[in-house]
Order: sequence, then C-alpha cells, then structure tokens
Amino acid sequence: MPSPHIFDSPTAMRVWSLERSRAGQRIAVVPTMGALHRGHEVVIQEARHHADLVVVTIFVNPMQFDRAEDFQSYPRPASEDLDICARHEVDAIYFPTAESMYPVGFDTRVVPGAIAEGFEGAHRPGHFTGVATVVTKLFNAVRPDVAIFGRKDAQQLALISQMVTDLDLGVEIYGVPTVREPDGLAMSSRNRRLSPEARAAATCVPAALNVAIAGLSDSDRPWSEIKSEALALIEAEPLATVEYLDLVDPTTFITREDHRSGHHSLVIAAVWVDGVRLIDNQQVPAQA
Ligand code: PAF
Repeated sequence: MPSPHIFDSPTAMRVWSLERSRAGQRIAVVPTMGALHRGHEVVIQEARHHADLVVVTIFVNPMQFDRAEDFQSYPRPASEDLDICARHEVDAIYFPTAESMYPVGFDTRVVPGAIAEGFEGAHRPGHFTGVATVVTKLFNAVRPDVAIFGRKDAQQLALISQMVTDLDLGVEIYGVPTVREPDGLAMSSRNRRLSPEARAAATCVPAALNVAIAGLSDSDRPWSEIKSEALALIEAEPLATVEYLDLVDPTTFITREDHRSGHHSLVIAAVWVDGVRLIDNQQVPAQA
C-alpha cells in the first residue's frame, strides 16, 4: 500500500500540485476536518472518479467554530485518519498546522452573502465566514480541478458553489449523497460524542425528516401542517431540542412555504441531542 505524501504548509502543497497539473494530471480535493468516517470514505471513493489524483485536507478550522468548547472537544484521531487515507490510496494529504494556515498577522476574511444569513449562519455567527475563508485557502494551496463535498452540510455546499462562481475560482464542485447508519442517522464526526442514550435518541432527526418527506408526497397537505407533525416527533424525545426544521430552496436557502412550486426543495433540520448539535436534510422531488 503506497503511503500518501503529507504536506503541512501551503507552499509545499502548492509545489506538488502545480508539478502534477503541469504534467497533465487532474486533481480532486476532499476538504475535511478529520475524524474520518464511512461518509468521508464514500466521498474519497467518489473523488477517484473525477480525477487522476486525490488530495484529502485535514484541518480543524478554528475560524468556523462559534463556541470555543466545541472547537476544543472536536475529535482529532490523527493516526486513524492517516490510516484511512492510506487504505484508500489517497495521493496526498494536506495537514496544515494552525500557524501555517493562520500565521501571526493574518487579517483577511471571505464573507459570503445572503445565502449564509439563515439557518446555520443565523445560529452559528461567523461560521460561514470561517468556512468560506478556509475553503478559499485550501483551494489556493491544493489548486484542485474539482472539489468533492458531502451533501449533509447542504447550506455549506450551496454557499461554496456560489462562492466559486462569484470569485471565479475555477474549481468544479460536486456533492455526494449523505451516508447513513442502518437506523437512518446521518454519519457525522460529531456522532462520536453521543452517549449511548443520546445515540438512540438521535434517530428522531432522520425520523422527523422522513415524516416530512412522506407528508410532502401528498400535494393536498399544507407545509405548515406537515412541519408541525415532524416537529412533534422531535419534541417527543426528551433528550432532543430542535433549532430549526424548514423547507428551503436548495440553491439560495430561501424558505419555501409551499412545496408545490414545481422545483426541487430541501427539508433541513438542526437538532441538539444531549449537548451535541446534529444537522441533516432530505431532498424533496419537484411537484407540479
Ligand atoms: O465540512 C467540513 O468538514 C468543513 O466545514 C470544511 C469544508 C472542511 C471547512 O473546514
């Protein structure tokens, strides 16, 4: 099994990438914060279909955490992550140090627009500025042709697609469907922090989304009624507190009051389960 190259500074990463690009090789990047799980592995496998070389980035980005305690407790199983990358024959890992990412004197931010205002943006002040800034820096270091993201972070994916267009970054963006546990829970690095009781309670999140999707298949039912039914399912779980559950346009993240618009929509949710914040979403097919 060949070992991936590991780079810890933007310059070293860029030198490698530019050499490969000049040799005519196409590069895919999979940006992550580590604590890799099966969902990431599926994204890495997908990346292989889009390029000659796959680069995984691992960086727990302090700028995108709105709570210091969340940043500090974020899992960092570095050697497991490196093993997973090696097993998938990743070509290079960009594992920058905090100092090389944000050196003393760092003073620039990429501030997204309206798409970042609601939902995750409203509940996690500064989060999307941190994401947009670090993704821009990761792209500048890796110089990828294509970047692959999971669809679980749907607002993040929409925002990055918009940013790439607006800033002429010249990177193709591709989203991979969410990978789920057998009981429906979306795979997430944060699931590691759920106690056994909270892990059992967390199934209320995919269950509520399924209730919403089933309700939305009936074009005679108003969204307000379907939403109340889905919320009731979460509210019945003593360990869970819902932050939002809404129907949105998947590109702009503007709230939809009606699913009969003839366009695809997304049902999105953020729920605290015993101190762990989980997000999830499901696509709603277009209806006449
Ligand atoms: O989705 C994530 O893991 C992070 O938000 C990302 C895109 C790697 C930026 O830090």
